[in-house]
Amino acid sequence: MIQIIKNVPEWKSLLKNDLKETTIGFVPTMGALHEGHLSLVERSVLENRITVFSIFINPTQFNDKSDLQNYPKTFDKDLELLKSRNVDFIFYPGYEEIYNDNYNYKVIENNLSGKLCGKHRPGHFDGVLTVVMKLLNIIEADNAYFGEKDYQQYLLIKGMAEAFFIKTEIIPCQTIRAADGLAHSSRNEMLTPEERKIAVKFPELLKSDFPIEEIKSELNYAGFKVDYIEDMNGRRFGAVHLGRVRLIDNVKK
Ligand code: PAF
Repeated sequence: MIQIIKNVPEWKSLLKNDLKETTIGFVPTMGALHEGHLSLVERSVLENRITVFSIFINPTQFNDKSDLQNYPKTFDKDLELLKSRNVDFIFYPGYEEIYNDNYNYKVIENNLSGKLCGKHRPGHFDGVLTVVMKLLNIIEADNAYFGEKDYQQYLLIKGMAEAFFIKTEIIPCQTIRAADGLAHSSRNEMLTPEERKIAVKFPELLKSDFPIEEIKSELNYAGFKVDYIEDMNGRRFGAVHLGRVRLIDNVKK
């Protein structure tokens, strides 16, 4: 049966006693589950004896207050989905449990975090790295799974884990897409049916062989507001706004 853990001492005591000799897989999320999250769970269940799934909507990574307010909160639905997927524990802490220091301490990366999404979302990656560092230190998993849709986030977390000698292996998992090609994201739920139809143009254009400037003007023409389309390390990265939703994606070139 799935067990919900809300505080750190409770988890640490389990680690010390019942979970001493086991391999632990960890899937950190902000809830509002979709197929992408479930594929991370599947992989963790396959590769570890125990799977821990965390749900924590991390306020410090939202540079825009209204984005935080609008972020979907669907705990009961998430719990139902996880019950049938062999997840053993849900770590579901409150703000004080995670930010016992009230965010006086943070993890800052000085290079990649200022590029791509970092250029458009000041402070975002400080919030991501800080909460992931805390979660990795709490859970002490063997493996942690991250989706490649957030490829920049994955690279930053991998770099942080190496820089700080964190024992958890950071494992990238392939982006899961809807049948029409749109990458699954918790934010897709906030698209209107009309916007959802338009959204498919984003991965289509990102995958195309068009030059970047042409992709940008096609996106603008279709009704998107483009934050960036950029090539880096053999990948094409993009972020766009559609209505009140910000979408990101990347593809191998
Ligand atoms: O990708 C996410 O859902 C979040 O950025 C993460 C890694 C759970 C940190 O809050």
